[in-house]
Amino acid sequence: MRGPPIVAAMPNAAAQKAYIGRLFDRAAASYDRVGNALFPPAGAALVAAAALCPGDRVLDVGCGRGACLFPAAEAVGPTGYVTGIDLALAMVEATSVDITRRGVANARVRVGDAESPEFPDHSFDAVLAGFVVFFLPDLAVALRSYARLLRPGGRLALSTFAEPSDQEIAFTRTCGAALAPYLPSPRSDTLPPLQRLRTTESVTGPVQAAGFVDVRSEHRDFYSPAQSWHWLWSGGLRGLVEQVPQDQRDDARAAFIRAVDQLSGPADSVAMTGSVRFTTARLPS
Ligand SMILES: C[S@@+](CC[C@H](N)C(=O)[O-])C[C@H]1O[C@@H](n2cnc3c(N)ncnc32)[C@H](O)[C@@H]1O
Repeated sequence: MRGPPIVAAMPNAAAQKAYIGRLFDRAAASYDRVGNALFPPAGAALVAAAALCPGDRVLDVGCGRGACLFPAAEAVGPTGYVTGIDLALAMVEATSVDITRRGVANARVRVGDAESPEFPDHSFDAVLAGFVVFFLPDLAVALRSYARLLRPGGRLALSTFAEPSDQEIAFTRTCGAALAPYLPSPRSDTLPPLQRLRTTESVTGPVQAAGFVDVRSEHRDFYSPAQSWHWLWSGGLRGLVEQVPQDQRDDARAAFIRAVDQLSGPADSVAMTGSVRFTTARLPS
């Protein structure tokens, strides 16, 4: 979903990455775990779009809590495997525990940078990137890395947020207005650049430039009943609400929930749509 106004990018790429890694470390415990019905179905849809085959070797960059990794492990079966990498150690640790708890033998996770994953050339049949490429300071570098890691004919499937629906825009404006009195002014410019790569051309152009062919991009709306305040803390928008001073958080929460109630009804819960862009491509054979 689209958040309150967020700046385009941090000036310093290394500082941006470090900030995002720490932000998702703090969000890892509740990421995907607060009644948010966006990431798991979008992950399953991305895996379906990637058309994985039994036996495929898959790299899932920015794997988070495994929204793509678990359905991918199922799709490739016991003769294939999925390697997930994430910048946030807490995400990697939590997902590793989930892999063991769920008895998934063909998936593993480790800390790694989605912009320049360190694996041998041609070592994967498919690369998945669910809701992560907009965080990367240099998308062209990342896409060239994926092209290097894939075998000839290998597939790329990535998701980003698409252009928002009217409902999303109304939700964003209302929530942003409710929180504004509690946020410092000027606001920190360290927030993740969630607004990038929403249009078709903004994604397909760089993918083609990296040497991929058969580039297709489509978007789909996901209905997402979420526990709104807790949801804010569970993902990238955590970077916004963390800026509310500690002693004003109860007031900010009450103002936020009042605003959301005006939009949807039941207390502390909101029904919203998130428009997701799925882009797929392959390397020439
Ligand atoms: C919005 S979550 C998406 C997680 C998962 N792919 C999904 O679809 O639910 C973004 C994830 O990307 C990770 N991330 C952000 N920048 C990264 C980078 N440069 N390298 C690796 N992971 C990164 C974050 O730590 C977070 O776990």
